[in-house]
Amino acid sequence: MRVLEDPIITQIIETDEPHTLGSAAVAAAKLLLAGEVVALPTETVYGLAANALDPAAVARIFAVKERPAFDPLIVHVRNLEAVREIAEVPSEIEDAVTKLANAFWPGPLTLLLPKKAIVSDLVTSGLPTVAVRVPSHAVFRRVLKECRLPLAAPSANRFGRISPTTAAAVEKELGGRIPLILDGGACGEGLESTILRVTRPPGSPKAVLEVVRAGPVTREALKQFGIVKKGSREPRPDAPGQLSSHYAPTTPLRLLAEGEGFSPEPGKTYGLLSVDGEPGRLNLSDFAEVAVLSPGSGKLSEAAIRLFALLRQLDESGVDEIIAEPVVEQGLGAAIMDRLRKAAGCG
Ligand code: TXA
Ligand code: MG
Repeated sequence: MRVLEDPIITQIIETDEPHTLGSAAVAAAKLLLAGEVVALPTETVYGLAANALDPAAVARIFAVKERPAFDPLIVHVRNLEAVREIAEVPSEIEDAVTKLANAFWPGPLTLLLPKKAIVSDLVTSGLPTVAVRVPSHAVFRRVLKECRLPLAAPSANRFGRISPTTAAAVEKELGGRIPLILDGGACGEGLESTILRVTRPPGSPKAVLEVVRAGPVTREALKQFGIVKKGSREPRPDAPGQLSSHYAPTTPLRLLAEGEGFSPEPGKTYGLLSVDGEPGRLNLSDFAEVAVLSPGSGKLSEAAIRLFALLRQLDESGVDEIIAEPVVEQGLGAAIMDRLRKAAGCG
Protein backbone atom coordinates (compact mmCIF):
# COMPACT_ATOMS: atom_id res chain seq x y z
CA MET A 1 0.00 0.00 0.00
CA ARG A 2 1.20 3.46 -0.84
CA VAL A 3 0.69 4.77 2.69
CA LEU A 4 3.10 2.30 4.20
CA GLU A 5 5.72 2.25 1.49
CA ASP A 6 6.30 5.97 0.98
CA PRO A 7 6.35 8.17 4.05
CA ILE A 8 4.23 11.27 3.56
CA ILE A 9 4.27 14.59 5.35
CA THR A 10 1.90 14.67 8.30
CA GLN A 11 0.48 18.11 8.92
CA ILE A 12 -0.69 18.97 12.44
CA ILE A 13 -3.26 21.76 12.78
CA GLU A 14 -4.12 23.39 16.10
CA THR A 15 -7.78 23.93 16.83
CA ASP A 16 -7.67 25.92 20.02
CA GLU A 17 -9.39 29.06 18.75
CA PRO A 18 -12.76 29.38 17.01
CA HIS A 19 -11.30 30.62 13.72
CA THR A 20 -8.60 27.93 13.63
CA LEU A 21 -11.25 25.29 14.43
CA GLY A 22 -13.30 26.31 11.41
CA SER A 23 -10.47 26.20 8.88
CA ALA A 24 -9.02 23.02 10.41
CA ALA A 25 -12.39 21.28 10.11
CA VAL A 26 -12.71 22.38 6.48
CA ALA A 27 -9.24 20.98 5.69
CA ALA A 28 -10.10 17.69 7.39
CA ALA A 29 -13.48 17.42 5.64
CA LYS A 30 -11.87 18.03 2.26
CA LEU A 31 -9.44 15.13 2.78
CA LEU A 32 -12.20 12.84 4.13
CA LEU A 33 -14.45 13.59 1.14
CA ALA A 34 -11.50 12.70 -1.10
CA GLY A 35 -11.20 9.26 0.51
CA GLU A 36 -8.26 10.07 2.81
CA VAL A 37 -7.76 9.27 6.48
CA VAL A 38 -7.42 12.00 9.12
CA ALA A 39 -6.65 11.77 12.85
CA LEU A 40 -9.16 13.63 15.00
CA PRO A 41 -9.59 14.14 18.74
CA THR A 42 -12.59 12.65 20.50
CA GLU A 43 -13.48 12.98 24.18
CA THR A 44 -12.14 9.43 24.76
CA VAL A 45 -8.98 8.98 22.66
CA TYR A 46 -7.79 10.23 19.26
CA GLY A 47 -9.44 8.46 16.31
CA LEU A 48 -8.25 7.73 12.78
CA ALA A 49 -11.25 8.72 10.66
CA ALA A 50 -12.39 7.82 7.15
CA ASN A 51 -15.65 7.82 5.17
CA ALA A 52 -17.58 4.77 6.45
CA LEU A 53 -19.45 4.51 3.12
CA ASP A 54 -16.28 4.25 1.00
CA PRO A 55 -14.61 0.82 1.13
CA ALA A 56 -11.34 2.16 -0.29
CA ALA A 57 -11.13 4.85 2.41
CA VAL A 58 -11.93 2.27 5.11
CA ALA A 59 -9.28 -0.06 3.68
CA ARG A 60 -6.79 2.75 4.13
CA ILE A 61 -7.52 2.82 7.89
CA PHE A 62 -6.66 -0.87 8.14
CA ALA A 63 -3.47 -0.40 6.11
CA VAL A 64 -2.25 2.62 8.07
CA LYS A 65 -2.91 0.94 11.42
CA GLU A 66 -1.68 -2.49 10.26
CA ARG A 67 -4.96 -3.69 11.68
CA PRO A 68 -6.26 -7.15 10.77
CA ALA A 69 -9.45 -7.01 8.73
CA PHE A 70 -11.34 -9.15 11.25
CA ASP A 71 -11.38 -6.26 13.74
CA PRO A 72 -14.44 -4.09 13.02
CA LEU A 73 -14.61 -0.29 13.38
CA ILE A 74 -16.86 2.14 15.24
CA VAL A 75 -18.86 4.57 13.08
CA HIS A 76 -19.26 8.12 14.41
CA VAL A 77 -22.26 10.28 13.51
CA ARG A 78 -23.87 13.51 14.67
CA ASN A 79 -27.02 12.27 16.44
CA LEU A 80 -29.55 9.44 16.80
CA GLU A 81 -31.25 10.39 13.51
CA ALA A 82 -27.95 9.92 11.72
CA VAL A 83 -27.52 6.57 13.50
CA ARG A 84 -30.79 5.44 11.89
CA GLU A 85 -29.32 6.10 8.43
CA ILE A 86 -26.68 3.44 8.96
CA ALA A 87 -28.27 1.06 11.49
CA GLU A 88 -31.63 -0.45 12.38
CA VAL A 89 -33.11 0.09 15.80
CA PRO A 90 -35.30 -3.00 16.29
CA SER A 91 -38.69 -2.14 17.81
CA GLU A 92 -38.14 -4.21 20.96
CA ILE A 93 -35.11 -2.10 21.91
CA GLU A 94 -36.34 1.25 20.54
CA ASP A 95 -37.27 2.46 24.00
CA ALA A 96 -33.97 1.43 25.61
CA VAL A 97 -31.87 2.85 22.76
CA THR A 98 -33.72 6.19 22.85
CA LYS A 99 -33.21 6.46 26.60
CA LEU A 100 -29.53 5.55 26.37
CA ALA A 101 -29.06 8.06 23.56
CA ASN A 102 -30.78 10.81 25.55
CA ALA A 103 -28.71 10.03 28.63
CA PHE A 104 -25.25 9.49 27.12
CA TRP A 105 -25.06 11.03 23.61
CA PRO A 106 -23.14 12.92 22.63
CA GLY A 107 -20.57 11.03 24.69
CA PRO A 108 -18.46 7.92 25.28
CA LEU A 109 -21.04 5.20 24.63
CA THR A 110 -21.00 2.85 21.61
CA LEU A 111 -23.99 0.68 20.70
CA LEU A 112 -23.95 -2.46 18.54
CA LEU A 113 -26.98 -2.36 16.23
CA PRO A 114 -28.04 -4.31 13.10
CA LYS A 115 -26.25 -2.66 10.19
CA LYS A 116 -27.85 -1.22 7.08
CA ALA A 117 -26.50 -2.21 3.66
CA ILE A 118 -25.10 1.27 3.01
CA VAL A 119 -22.26 0.63 5.51
CA SER A 120 -19.24 -1.05 3.95
CA ASP A 121 -18.77 -4.70 5.07
CA LEU A 122 -15.16 -3.83 5.67
CA VAL A 123 -16.27 -1.52 8.52
CA THR A 124 -18.05 -4.36 10.31
CA SER A 125 -15.66 -7.14 9.24
CA GLY A 126 -18.67 -8.86 7.73
CA LEU A 127 -20.63 -8.86 11.01
CA PRO A 128 -24.38 -8.19 10.85
CA THR A 129 -24.04 -5.42 13.46
CA VAL A 130 -22.38 -2.02 13.27
CA ALA A 131 -20.87 -0.20 16.25
CA VAL A 132 -22.16 3.39 16.40
CA ARG A 133 -21.48 6.36 18.59
CA VAL A 134 -22.14 10.09 18.76
CA PRO A 135 -18.95 11.78 19.98
CA SER A 136 -19.07 14.96 22.07
CA HIS A 137 -15.70 16.49 21.22
CA ALA A 138 -16.21 19.90 19.59
CA VAL A 139 -13.52 19.29 16.95
CA PHE A 140 -14.90 15.91 15.88
CA ARG A 141 -18.42 17.31 15.81
CA ARG A 142 -17.34 20.22 13.65
CA VAL A 143 -15.70 17.85 11.17
CA LEU A 144 -18.86 15.67 11.08
CA LYS A 145 -20.87 18.79 10.33
CA GLU A 146 -18.51 19.91 7.55
CA CYS A 147 -18.19 16.59 5.73
CA ARG A 148 -21.71 15.23 6.35
CA LEU A 149 -20.41 11.67 6.27
CA PRO A 150 -20.58 8.89 8.84
CA LEU A 151 -16.95 8.47 9.92
CA ALA A 152 -15.43 5.11 10.76
CA ALA A 153 -12.72 5.75 13.35
CA PRO A 154 -10.69 3.33 15.41
CA SER A 155 -8.19 4.65 17.94
CA ALA A 156 -5.31 6.36 16.10
CA ASN A 157 -2.58 3.90 17.11
CA ARG A 158 -0.87 1.06 15.31
CA PHE A 159 -2.71 -2.20 15.96
CA GLY A 160 -2.34 -3.61 19.47
CA ARG A 161 -0.59 -0.51 20.80
CA ILE A 162 -1.58 2.05 23.42
CA SER A 163 -4.39 4.40 22.34
CA PRO A 164 -3.20 8.01 21.87
CA THR A 165 -4.67 10.74 24.06
CA THR A 166 -2.68 13.65 22.60
CA ALA A 167 -1.82 14.79 19.07
CA ALA A 168 1.87 14.21 19.87
CA ALA A 169 1.12 10.56 20.69
CA VAL A 170 -0.75 10.20 17.37
CA GLU A 171 2.25 11.64 15.56
CA LYS A 172 4.51 9.07 17.21
CA GLU A 173 2.17 6.25 16.17
CA LEU A 174 1.18 7.33 12.68
CA GLY A 175 3.42 10.23 11.64
CA GLY A 176 4.56 9.81 8.02
CA ARG A 177 1.57 7.58 7.27
CA ILE A 178 -1.33 10.04 7.33
CA PRO A 179 -1.74 13.51 5.83
CA LEU A 180 -3.35 15.35 8.75
CA ILE A 181 -3.79 15.37 12.53
CA LEU A 182 -6.14 17.89 14.13
CA ASP A 183 -4.73 18.83 17.52
CA GLY A 184 -7.55 19.26 20.02
CA GLY A 185 -5.39 19.01 23.15
CA ALA A 186 -5.49 16.14 25.62
CA CYS A 187 -8.61 13.95 25.61
CA GLY A 188 -11.01 14.56 28.48
CA GLU A 189 -11.94 10.94 29.27
CA GLY A 190 -8.73 9.13 28.37
CA LEU A 191 -10.27 5.67 27.93
CA GLU A 192 -12.11 4.30 24.90
CA SER A 193 -15.91 4.34 24.88
CA THR A 194 -18.06 1.78 26.65
CA ILE A 195 -19.40 -0.73 24.07
CA LEU A 196 -22.87 -2.20 24.66
CA ARG A 197 -24.88 -4.88 22.92
CA VAL A 198 -28.55 -4.08 23.55
CA THR A 199 -31.14 -6.86 23.27
CA ARG A 200 -34.53 -7.66 24.76
CA PRO A 201 -35.29 -11.36 25.01
CA PRO A 202 -38.94 -12.24 24.25
CA GLY A 203 -41.09 -11.68 27.33
CA SER A 204 -38.43 -9.67 29.16
CA PRO A 205 -39.78 -6.39 30.53
CA LYS A 206 -36.32 -4.86 30.43
CA ALA A 207 -33.56 -4.58 27.87
CA VAL A 208 -30.38 -6.55 28.44
CA LEU A 209 -27.23 -4.40 28.22
CA GLU A 210 -24.18 -6.52 27.58
CA VAL A 211 -20.96 -4.61 28.28
CA VAL A 212 -18.67 -5.76 25.47
CA ARG A 213 -15.95 -3.26 26.48
CA ALA A 214 -15.85 -1.43 29.81
CA GLY A 215 -15.37 2.33 29.50
CA PRO A 216 -16.25 5.77 30.81
CA VAL A 217 -19.98 4.97 31.00
CA THR A 218 -19.93 2.69 34.02
CA ARG A 219 -22.08 -0.34 34.91
CA GLU A 220 -23.42 1.69 37.80
CA ALA A 221 -24.57 4.45 35.42
CA LEU A 222 -26.18 1.91 33.07
CA LYS A 223 -28.23 0.05 35.68
CA GLN A 224 -31.34 2.21 35.40
CA PHE A 225 -31.55 1.48 31.64
CA GLY A 226 -31.73 -2.32 31.77
CA ILE A 227 -30.20 -5.50 33.08
CA VAL A 228 -26.43 -5.00 32.88
CA LYS A 229 -24.38 -8.07 32.00
CA LYS A 230 -20.70 -8.63 31.42
CA GLY A 231 -19.85 -9.13 27.74
CA SER A 232 -19.26 -12.69 26.62
CA ARG A 233 -15.72 -13.77 25.85
CA GLU A 234 -15.98 -16.10 22.94
CA PRO A 235 -12.80 -17.74 21.59
CA ARG A 236 -13.06 -15.58 18.47
CA PRO A 237 -13.87 -12.29 20.15
CA ASP A 238 -16.24 -10.18 18.12
CA ALA A 239 -14.77 -7.14 19.87
CA PRO A 240 -11.06 -7.67 19.39
CA GLY A 241 -10.48 -4.73 21.77
CA GLN A 242 -11.01 -7.78 23.97
CA LEU A 243 -7.93 -9.51 22.57
CA SER A 244 -5.61 -10.08 25.50
CA SER A 245 -2.60 -8.42 23.85
CA HIS A 246 -4.45 -5.15 23.25
CA TYR A 247 -3.26 -1.77 24.58
CA ALA A 248 0.17 -3.29 25.15
CA PRO A 249 3.32 -1.32 25.80
CA THR A 250 6.40 -2.96 24.26
CA THR A 251 7.90 -3.21 27.78
CA PRO A 252 6.49 -6.18 29.75
CA LEU A 253 3.91 -5.08 32.32
CA ARG A 254 3.03 -6.93 35.50
CA LEU A 255 -0.21 -6.07 37.27
CA LEU A 256 0.02 -6.65 41.02
CA ALA A 257 -2.88 -8.07 43.01
CA GLU A 258 -4.37 -5.94 45.81
CA GLY A 259 -1.85 -5.85 48.67
CA GLU A 260 0.75 -7.90 46.76
CA GLY A 261 4.39 -7.05 47.50
CA PHE A 262 7.27 -6.77 45.04
CA SER A 263 10.93 -7.67 45.19
CA PRO A 264 13.23 -6.65 42.36
CA GLU A 265 15.48 -9.11 40.57
CA PRO A 266 19.12 -8.02 40.67
CA GLY A 267 20.32 -6.30 37.51
CA LYS A 268 16.81 -5.48 36.24
CA THR A 269 15.29 -2.00 36.15
CA TYR A 270 11.67 -1.33 36.94
CA GLY A 271 9.09 1.38 36.41
CA LEU A 272 6.15 1.75 38.76
CA LEU A 273 2.65 2.79 37.72
CA SER A 274 1.37 3.90 41.09
CA VAL A 275 -2.22 4.83 41.89
CA ASP A 276 -1.53 7.75 44.23
CA GLY A 277 2.24 7.78 44.78
CA GLU A 278 1.89 6.25 48.24
CA PRO A 279 2.39 2.63 47.36
CA GLY A 280 1.94 1.08 50.83
CA ARG A 281 4.06 -2.06 50.89
CA LEU A 282 6.17 -1.17 47.87
CA ASN A 283 9.58 0.43 48.21
CA LEU A 284 9.87 3.42 45.88
CA SER A 285 13.67 3.04 45.76
CA ASP A 286 13.20 -0.27 43.88
CA PHE A 287 12.00 1.71 40.86
CA ALA A 288 14.00 3.69 38.33
CA GLU A 289 10.83 5.49 37.23
CA VAL A 290 7.62 6.19 39.13
CA ALA A 291 4.48 7.45 37.35
CA VAL A 292 1.50 8.43 39.46
CA LEU A 293 -1.98 7.96 37.98
CA SER A 294 -3.81 10.21 40.35
CA PRO A 295 -1.39 12.57 42.13
CA GLY A 296 -3.90 15.27 42.94
CA SER A 297 -7.37 14.20 43.88
CA GLY A 298 -6.79 10.47 44.04
CA LYS A 299 -9.87 10.22 41.86
CA LEU A 300 -10.43 7.56 39.21
CA SER A 301 -11.39 10.10 36.55
CA GLU A 302 -7.94 11.66 36.87
CA ALA A 303 -6.36 8.19 36.67
CA ALA A 304 -8.36 7.37 33.51
CA ILE A 305 -7.30 10.57 31.75
CA ARG A 306 -3.62 9.97 32.57
CA LEU A 307 -3.42 6.18 32.13
CA PHE A 308 -2.39 5.85 28.47
CA ALA A 309 0.01 8.81 28.52
CA LEU A 310 1.80 7.41 31.60
CA LEU A 311 1.95 3.92 30.08
CA ARG A 312 3.61 5.47 27.05
CA GLN A 313 6.04 7.43 29.26
CA LEU A 314 7.05 4.31 31.21
CA ASP A 315 7.30 2.33 27.97
CA GLU A 316 9.68 4.93 26.52
CA SER A 317 11.75 5.26 29.72
CA GLY A 318 13.82 2.16 28.92
CA VAL A 319 13.03 0.15 32.08
CA ASP A 320 13.01 -3.66 31.77
CA GLU A 321 9.58 -4.13 33.33
CA ILE A 322 6.59 -2.02 34.33
CA ILE A 323 4.94 -2.87 37.65
CA ALA A 324 1.35 -1.61 37.95
CA GLU A 325 -0.66 -1.28 41.14
CA PRO A 326 -4.32 -2.29 40.87
CA VAL A 327 -7.14 0.24 41.29
CA VAL A 328 -10.42 -0.42 43.06
CA GLU A 329 -12.67 -2.19 40.57
CA GLN A 330 -15.68 0.08 40.92
CA GLY A 331 -17.12 2.71 38.60
CA LEU A 332 -14.39 3.84 36.19
CA GLY A 333 -12.01 1.52 38.03
CA ALA A 334 -13.50 -1.42 36.09
CA ALA A 335 -12.45 0.10 32.75
CA ILE A 336 -8.99 1.04 34.09
CA MET A 337 -8.42 -2.52 35.37
CA ASP A 338 -9.63 -3.91 32.01
CA ARG A 339 -6.97 -1.86 30.19
CA LEU A 340 -4.26 -2.77 32.74
CA ARG A 341 -5.05 -6.49 32.42
CA LYS A 342 -4.82 -6.20 28.65
CA ALA A 343 -1.55 -4.27 28.88
CA ALA A 344 -0.31 -7.14 31.06
CA GLY A 345 -1.45 -9.61 28.38
CA CYS A 346 -3.92 -11.30 30.68
CA GLY A 347 -7.13 -9.57 29.67
O1 TXA B 1 -13.73 5.72 22.25
C1 TXA B 1 -13.68 4.98 21.26
O2 TXA B 1 -14.49 4.06 21.09
C2 TXA B 1 -12.58 5.26 20.24
C3 TXA B 1 -12.84 6.63 19.62
C4 TXA B 1 -11.90 6.94 18.50
O3 TXA B 1 -14.17 6.70 19.20
N1 TXA B 1 -12.55 4.24 19.25
C5 TXA B 1 -12.08 3.01 19.47
O4 TXA B 1 -12.06 2.21 18.35
O5 TXA B 1 -11.70 2.63 20.56
P1 TXA B 1 -11.24 0.86 18.25
O6 TXA B 1 -11.36 0.41 16.85
O7 TXA B 1 -9.89 1.05 18.78
O8 TXA B 1 -12.08 -0.12 19.13
C6 TXA B 1 -13.35 -0.48 18.67
C7 TXA B 1 -13.79 -1.76 19.26
C8 TXA B 1 -12.98 -2.93 18.77
O9 TXA B 1 -12.63 -3.74 19.86
C9 TXA B 1 -13.95 -3.64 17.84
O10 TXA B 1 -13.71 -5.01 17.80
C10 TXA B 1 -15.28 -3.31 18.47
O11 TXA B 1 -15.14 -1.99 18.84
N2 TXA B 1 -16.37 -3.42 17.49
C11 TXA B 1 -16.58 -2.67 16.42
N3 TXA B 1 -17.64 -3.09 15.71
C12 TXA B 1 -18.12 -4.16 16.36
C13 TXA B 1 -19.21 -5.06 16.14
N4 TXA B 1 -20.03 -4.93 15.10
N5 TXA B 1 -19.40 -6.06 17.03
C14 TXA B 1 -18.58 -6.19 18.10
N6 TXA B 1 -17.54 -5.38 18.37
C15 TXA B 1 -17.30 -4.37 17.51
MG1 MG C 1 -8.12 0.68 19.60
